[in-house]
Amino acid sequence: MKILMVCLGNICRSPLAEGILRSKLPDSFLVDSVGTISMHEGETPDKRAVKTAANHGIDISKQKSRPLHVSDFDKFDRIYCMDLKNLEDVISLTKNEEQRQKVHLFLEEAGNHQNSEVPDPYWGDMKDFEDVFQLLDSACNKISHQLQQHAITNKIG
Ligand code: 4NP
Repeated sequence: MKILMVCLGNICRSPLAEGILRSKLPDSFLVDSVGTISMHEGETPDKRAVKTAANHGIDISKQKSRPLHVSDFDKFDRIYCMDLKNLEDVISLTKNEEQRQKVHLFLEEAGNHQNSEVPDPYWGDMKDFEDVFQLLDSACNKISHQLQQHAITNKIG
């Protein structure tokens, strides 16, 4: 199965979500991330995101930002958006119902009833990055179980 994480710049939230989810899934799953804007294309994640992930034993330092491409709707099985604006922007690019069905609000899919959006830590400090890490880590625990269950039920990798 192929999973895509989406945020605005693809340098803070979705690279963290990518690294965390990958660390919880077997190699048969492909996990990637993109931004809805191309402003940071080619850049490695924000230093604070890299440091926060490293504090938890996850290396995201080699990931590179790239914008969402329409071909991603066919390539990926699940597309998880970090906030409602990302969701709106991604859905606006879908061409049909099959593509729309792949797009979800990440925390909603993870059954988080307190928060539906992952707050953007870009303008914040290290504490904001750590809070985002914790929010993503707990959601990734739920999502990784769901995905592995789905893969077993449907006999897919
Ligand atoms: P991200 O955070 O969407 O979590 O990667 C941001 C990155 C860059 C900007 C805003 C948010 N920016 O305005 O450049």
